[in-house]
Amino acid sequence: MALQSIEVPDSIKQIAMPKQAETLIDDAIRRIESFMLSGQAVIENFVRCDFQLFGQALSWIQQNHLLTGSRFIELGSGFGVATMLAAMSGMESVGVEIEPRLVEQSENLADDLHIDAQFYCGSFVPRNVEDLAELATEVQNVDTQEGDVYHEIGLEMDDFDLFFAFPWPGEHTFFEAIFDARAANAALLLTYRGRDGMNLVRKI
Ligand SMILES: C[S@@+](CC[C@H](N)C(=O)[O-])C[C@H]1O[C@@H](n2cnc3c(N)ncnc32)[C@H](O)[C@@H]1O
Repeated sequence: MALQSIEVPDSIKQIAMPKQAETLIDDAIRRIESFMLSGQAVIENFVRCDFQLFGQALSWIQQNHLLTGSRFIELGSGFGVATMLAAMSGMESVGVEIEPRLVEQSENLADDLHIDAQFYCGSFVPRNVEDLAELATEVQNVDTQEGDVYHEIGLEMDDFDLFFAFPWPGEHTFFEAIFDARAANAALLLTYRGRDGMNLVRKI
């Protein structure tokens, strides 16, 4: 198998977001700021992506009919905002996050805004991937020790059509490797790359 790169144009930044999405993003950013200042132990692996740019990239993917189906999964969902934006756009949407406090925050936000997204506390890293131990040496900000949550979700990685992740710098190849190992043919992986924006690949 291989990954085919799909260029995401800079013009996605002109795509207007629905009012409901703007409301979610504003509310989430306020909650994240107060969560960070709450005095509880810092969750070092959590940094949020550019939610607006994610929403614009998702709209662009949908407008260009690049999806093979409507199942979305966020690998390491943090506050769950991308998962909720995908749910609001009509996708069957799942967030997987290993930190229980972040899962709780995501569920509270989804409940308060009546957004139909599902969150699971545990690891997105699938078991029994060939060379996983070697791949794991390449990442410092992904927990590769815990068992995965796919059985609890009731879906396997190859049931999802669009994956989203915000890897730490230098760690995107790990996400691509597990995606390539387990996703269905023609599934898409969107990653946020900080200053380099959004990166999109299709498994072929
Ligand atoms: C850089 S943050 C991105 C959060 C969110 N996706 C966003 O873009 O705002 C990465 C998240 O992955 C979570 N994480 C790390 N290893 C994980 C694992 N094996 N399974 C699930 N979540 C994991 C961290 O706790 C952290 O919240």
